[in-house]
Amino acid sequence: MKINLPKFNGSFKNKSFISIEQLTKNSEIKKIFRVAEQMKDIVVRKKPSNVLNGYCIAELFYQPSTRTFTSFLAAAKWLGAMTIPIHGMSAYSSAVKGESIEDTVRTIHQTTGADLIIIRHPGDNSTEIAAQASYVPIINAGSGKKEHPTQAILDLYTIKNELGRMKNLKVIFLGDLKYGRTIKSLGKLLTIVDKNLQLFLVSPKILKMPKKLVKEWRVRGVKVHETESLLEVLPQVDVLYVTRIQKEWFEVERKLSLYRKLKMVYDINLKTLRRAKKKMVEMHPLPRVGEIAYEVDNDPRAAYFRQMRNGLYTRMALLKLILLGS
Ligand code: NCD
Repeated sequence: MKINLPKFNGSFKNKSFISIEQLTKNSEIKKIFRVAEQMKDIVVRKKPSNVLNGYCIAELFYQPSTRTFTSFLAAAKWLGAMTIPIHGMSAYSSAVKGESIEDTVRTIHQTTGADLIIIRHPGDNSTEIAAQASYVPIINAGSGKKEHPTQAILDLYTIKNELGRMKNLKVIFLGDLKYGRTIKSLGKLLTIVDKNLQLFLVSPKILKMPKKLVKEWRVRGVKVHETESLLEVLPQVDVLYVTRIQKEWFEVERKLSLYRKLKMVYDINLKTLRRAKKKMVEMHPLPRVGEIAYEVDNDPRAAYFRQMRNGLYTRMALLKLILLGS
């Protein structure tokens, strides 16, 4: 199913944020980052804002989450909004009785007065469908194997802060590139900001990035190199973006024995990092399940804990831009 999502065209006001493809200009990304800097100030100085007083924000999560759920909730609260956080949608909502996502988003607006609804859902097109039916903007907090646009925003913001640039980047995406959604959104976002982007897609053969995306990126001028060997490409890159092997999708496809074989295919420790540049950033959307050893956490290049804090600032910025326009 293909729904045409409205491009932002410079304005976020009252628009759903479903896909990175809605962003087309560098200036839009810079605008989000500018507001994120102001948001950081609010949190660092411990001076909560009331700009979203009177607004109501609902979160409907049909899949597990720690970072995305709590950072959106805290983002809304730091800005003074009322919040309706619902974590157990797939266990306790009327979805169990077979209610459609279209009816659910309309219902949530009516029963709570929500002005914006944040959704995480296992269906690839779930948030598109929700946005079509909803009376109020929807933010995609992770849809199936397809997109996680707000994660991409916080990831790029992290790259910019850690390296001081967003251009001429050599980036590794490592791990489960087939089922993972964060790297698909981040890949799309990087192609907008970096005309000299080089992407190194490192995964077991069976977990490769979908061909369609690789082709799109090549058409846009990105140099894409696919390999199974991390050490072959690690020494030259600026960003090492690690992902976990996504057990839940192997469960759906009844391939758990294959998962057990692949689970520890990459494990990064301090010895691995000796092969990387001194000025390099190591990222992970988290959770990790063994692919990065704890001993790496104190290496200055390990940015994954700083990265998740950036999720709070950038999500505050997105809530403000969508509800207030600036
Ligand atoms: C990611 C997700 O849900 O796609 N987590 C997150 O939002 N930080 C990555 C993952 O679950 O592996």
